[in-house]
Amino acid sequence: MATVFSRLGAWFTERAPGLAPVYRKHVTEYYAPKNFNLWYYFGSLALLVLVNQILTGIFLTMNYKTSAAEAFDSVEYIMRDVEWGWLIRYMHSTGASLFFVVVFLHMFRGLMYGSYQKPRELVWILGMLIFLVLMAEAFMGYVLPWGNMSFWGAKVIISLFGTIPVIGGSLVEWIMGDYLPADATLNRFFALHVIALPLVLLLLVVLHLAALHEVGSNNPDGVDVKHGPKGSRWGADKPADGIPFHPYYTVKDLSGVGFFLIVAAFIVFFEPTFGGWFLEHDNFVPANNLATPLHIKPVWYFTPFYAILRMVPSFFGTAIWGVIGMFGAIALLFLMPWIDAGKVRSIRYRGTGFKVALGLFVLSFFGLALVGMGVTAEAIPAWFPHADVTVWENLFGRLMALLYFGYFLFLGLYTRLGWETTKPVPERVTTHD
Ligand code: HEM
Repeated sequence: MATVFSRLGAWFTERAPGLAPVYRKHVTEYYAPKNFNLWYYFGSLALLVLVNQILTGIFLTMNYKTSAAEAFDSVEYIMRDVEWGWLIRYMHSTGASLFFVVVFLHMFRGLMYGSYQKPRELVWILGMLIFLVLMAEAFMGYVLPWGNMSFWGAKVIISLFGTIPVIGGSLVEWIMGDYLPADATLNRFFALHVIALPLVLLLLVVLHLAALHEVGSNNPDGVDVKHGPKGSRWGADKPADGIPFHPYYTVKDLSGVGFFLIVAAFIVFFEPTFGGWFLEHDNFVPANNLATPLHIKPVWYFTPFYAILRMVPSFFGTAIWGVIGMFGAIALLFLMPWIDAGKVRSIRYRGTGFKVALGLFVLSFFGLALVGMGVTAEAIPAWFPHADVTVWENLFGRLMALLYFGYFLFLGLYTRLGWETTKPVPERVTTHD
């Protein structure tokens, strides 16, 4: 077997001598820090889900009909009549939600270990661009089954552009290609969802990894991998604190893939709608512009941002502040490398203030999600029958929004005004062996 591979390798090297160095640089001679922990599984899992979305998407496209008259029925046809169609569709819809689970955890790892700090600002910015495109991709995909929530979700989100002064109204019509979400809207969203945005995503992911491999991976200690006094067992010029990505991390990542697939398979086979969180009940009803769903709310992964949109009050008779708040919540994440002026990268050695602030930030994210999902609107009257739901929901939601934005303000001040007392950072990465 080994000779077959080495002969194949030699065959390629003779014909494309430039390939082997690329493979070595990014795989067998990419020295990643030897102290990666669980949090370092999510990058490769995001790649796995990306591949799943593209492959299942191709098969869905084979039977999906892009027209307002046929889209809903074609999805039902895939679910009932196409051989294994239900599996492909559930893999795609579950994949969409798991994509966000994985990407949120991946981003949180970056926040914990300061992976956005110098010299990885570009890796972070490219990651944030991926996040933006991913949100657009998920939103447009959600419109395609042309269920009632697809329709109303599209209407609410596209109408947000209407708050832009002067051009807002025309912009909304231009995006929809009609006065309501309609056939034209569905067709352009299909084109963007199936080809344009996936191409952009793929390109961004390649750039994200290329940028990472230029500067090297961060790690849970947040210290750079160093060369040992005698070099490493991989050679005198190789870092002693690093291990070759292949085979060490390919094997580690494969174990993560195995665990992840078990969880994903459990959802796909036993609970594909995930209690209405991954596929909402209102979307099993065809689009109807005369029947507004009782509660229009986005899929769970948009809910923290949607809650900010709802919680920011309208001033001067315009709702644009909510839109600014929502986009601002994402824009601030882009700016993390410049907001955090901390001298230490990893949470392990940072001040207590940083740890508390990050904890409260996570709390605010979940709190906002509860508001956006309508959980608070149901819980308040159940627990406090005499309370005014709007007043209490606004109070809670606005407190959470303040905590969210407060994180960035606090971090900027905390790291600039000398309030942070850090722990001594080790010279070399630490391991438990
Ligand atoms: C399709 C989505 C994404 C894919 C496929 C992806 C893939 C990867 C991979 C394979 C790694 C190296 C392994 C690892 O560190 O876990 C990585 C690292 C990294 N990613 Fe992503 N990523 C995605 C989205 C994002 C997003 C949304 C952000 C945040 C803005 C981000 C920020 C980072 C950072 C900062 C690193 C370096 C981490 C470190 O060295 O500590 N990525 N990414």
